[in-house]
Amino acid sequence: MISKQTIESVFEVARVEEVIGEFVQLKKSGSNFKGLSPFTDEKTPSFMVSPVKQIWKDFSTGKGGNAISFLMEHEHYTYPEAIKWLAKKYNIEIEETEQTDEQKQQINERESMFLVSKFAKDYFHEVLMNTQQGRAIGLSYFKERGFREDTITKFDLGYCKDEWDNFTKTALQKGYDLKYLKSTGLTIVKEGGAEDKKFDRFKGRVMFPIHSMSGRILGFGGRILTNDKKAAKYLNSPESDIYHKSKILYGIYQAKKEIAKQDNCYLVEGYTDVISFHQSGIENVVASSGTALTPDQIRLVHRLTNNITVLFDGDAAGIRAAIKGVDLILEQGMNVKVVSFPEGEDPDSFAKSHSDAELKQYLTDKAQDFIDFKVSLLMKDAENDPVKKAGLIRDIVSSIAKIPDAIQREVYVQECARVMDISERVLFSELAQLVSKTDAQNIQKSKPTPVLQPVKETTKPKVDSLFLLEKEIIRILLLYGNEEIDFINWIDAVDKYGRHTLEKEEYRNTVCNEIYLNLQEDEIAFTNDLFQVIYFELIHQLNQDEKISIEQLITHENPEVANLVTNILMDEEKYTLSDWSRKEIFVTETHKILPKLVTDALLNIRRLLIEKKINGILEEIRENQVQPDLEEISGYTDLKKLLFEKLNRVI
Ligand code: CTP
Ligand code: MN
Repeated sequence: MISKQTIESVFEVARVEEVIGEFVQLKKSGSNFKGLSPFTDEKTPSFMVSPVKQIWKDFSTGKGGNAISFLMEHEHYTYPEAIKWLAKKYNIEIEETEQTDEQKQQINERESMFLVSKFAKDYFHEVLMNTQQGRAIGLSYFKERGFREDTITKFDLGYCKDEWDNFTKTALQKGYDLKYLKSTGLTIVKEGGAEDKKFDRFKGRVMFPIHSMSGRILGFGGRILTNDKKAAKYLNSPESDIYHKSKILYGIYQAKKEIAKQDNCYLVEGYTDVISFHQSGIENVVASSGTALTPDQIRLVHRLTNNITVLFDGDAAGIRAAIKGVDLILEQGMNVKVVSFPEGEDPDSFAKSHSDAELKQYLTDKAQDFIDFKVSLLMKDAENDPVKKAGLIRDIVSSIAKIPDAIQREVYVQECARVMDISERVLFSELAQLVSKTDAQNIQKSKPTPVLQPVKETTKPKVDSLFLLEKEIIRILLLYGNEEIDFINWIDAVDKYGRHTLEKEEYRNTVCNEIYLNLQEDEIAFTNDLFQVIYFELIHQLNQDEKISIEQLITHENPEVANLVTNILMDEEKYTLSDWSRKEIFVTETHKILPKLVTDALLNIRRLLIEKKINGILEEIRENQVQPDLEEISGYTDLKKLLFEKLNRVI
C-alpha cells in the first residue's frame, strides 16, 4: 500500500493543469483553461480545467474530477497507478506501508523482472533496427509482411539474434542479474558440466513484446522465421510472477484510448491480427493470443467499455470452439457482437487484401448480435430435427441465462422466440429453471403485462423536489459557503391593533453558518446519503476552522462524493467556455440574490417537510381509521401558511 503521507504530498504538489497539459492542449480562458475533449472527437472545446479549484470537467461526456481521476479516466490507471505516475512526475519518493520484509522482497523481485524485460525489449528493438543481422533477417521479414516502420516502433517489435547467447551475454555485461533473466524466461540455464550453460530462449526469432495496460513489459512472444514443422511457430514467455497468460491481452496498451473512445473493443486471435488492424486505421483491437478467453481478460476490457466484438476466423470448427468463450463475456454483463470472416481468411489477411474503408465497412455490415448469431448458426443444423431443436433451445437459453440484467434477458427471449418460431412461454420456463430462483421471479414480474391494460397516469416519473432542494443547499454551501452577507428574517409579531404581522430583522452572517443554524434548529437531515456525507464533512470543518473548505471533498476517498462535488463546482464555470464576459454578469447577479437564494432554499425545504408530515398524518387517518388530532394538523397547517408568507416577503 502507498502511504497516506505519499498520497498527501502528491496531492500537495500536483497541479491539475500541468497534469492534463501533458495530454490535452489547453488554452487560457478567463481564470480557467479550455481545450478539446480527449474523450470524444469534437471540434469546439467543451473541456475545462480550473486551476483555482484544481478540478476539470468535460462537458461533452459529463466526466470530471481532480488530477487523479483524470489519469484514471484518460490513461485507465488504477488509483495506485495514478498516484505512482504523479509521484514520478513530481519526483516524490513513494513510501509503502505495512509491508513485511517478505512482501518488500517480493515487490523488489517483480520490479527487477520488469527492469530486465524492459531492457530486453529495448535491446531486441535496437538489434532489429540497427544491426546488420537484425535488418537483413528480422526487419526484412516484417517488411515482407507489410509492416510499416511506424507500426514496428509503435509495437516495439524486435529481433533476437540467431546466436546461442548474444542477448544473455549483453544483459549480464550490463549488470542485469542472471536470477531475473532466468525467472523471466529470457535465458534458459542448462545445469551440469563444469559450468552451467546459458541460452537465449528466443534465439533467431522476431519479437512481439507484451505490454500491460499501463505500458510495462510483461513478457514476449517470439515468432520463428523458418518453416520448421517441428519447432513451435510462436514461443511465449513462461508463466512467472509478472507474466500470467490468462490475465493479459495483447495490444491493450496501444488500444486502450481508442477502445474507450469508440466504446467498443474488437477481439482477435493473433499478434499479427492486432498489428494489421492498427495499420488499417482500426486501433480498438486486442488479441487473446490463441487461447480461450478468461474472465480476467474480459475484466481488463470491461474497465474500458461495455461492448465487445469478437472476430472469428472463417472456418466452422473455429467458430464452434470460440462460441463457448463468449458465454463468459455475457456473464460479465457486456454486450457481445460477432463478425466472422470468409472461409480461409483471418483478420490479418483480410485487412491486407482490402482497403481501410472496405475493412471498416465489412466490420460494420457484418457485426451481428451474438445470440442472434448463435441461433441462426445452430438453427441450420436443427431445422427439421425436433430432438436437435430441443437441445438447441436449451443451449441458447443457457447463453441467455448468463446475462445478469433481467430486462436484457427478456429482450433476448422475445427475439429468440421469433427467430426459432417457438412460444416465449417455453423459453421463459426453460430460463426460469436455469437462473437462480430470485432472478427467475424477477423475470416473471418484469414480463410485459398482457394485452390492453390501460396505461396508468401515475407511471410518469415525478420530479423529486426534496432531492432538488437538498442539492440546492449543498450547491450553495459549496459555492458560497464562506461568504458573509446581510440576511433578512421575518419574525412573528403582533402590531399595535393586536393583529398578526411579520417584523423585519436584519443581520449579518456567513452562508454556511446560516444554513447550519437553520437546519440544526429544525433537526433537518438530508435524505440523500451522498448529500448527508458532504454536509457532515462541511459542518465538521466549520466547527473546527469556522469556515468550510472544499479541497477534502474534491479529493474525497469516495469517488461518488468527489464526482458530485466537482460537477457542482464546474457547472458554474460552464459559462466561460463560450463567452466569459457573461460569467461576470452571472457572478454579480448571483451575489445580489444570494441572501434570497439561501433563505428561500431553507424555507422551501421546511415547507416541503411539513407538507410531508401533514400528508403522512392524513394517510394514517385514512388507513387506520383513527381519530384525527385536529390540533396537530392545524398546527402544521398554520406553520405552512406562515412559511408561505415568509417566502413571499423575502425579496
Ligand atoms: N500462438 C501461440 N503459440 C503457437 C501458435 C499460436 O502462442 N504455437 C498464439 C499467438 O499469440 C498467435 C495466435 O495464437 O498470434 C494465433 O495463432 P495463428 O493464427 O496460428 O498465428 P498468427 O497470429 O496468424 O501468426 P502468423 O500470421 O504469423 O502465422
Ligand atoms: Mn496469420
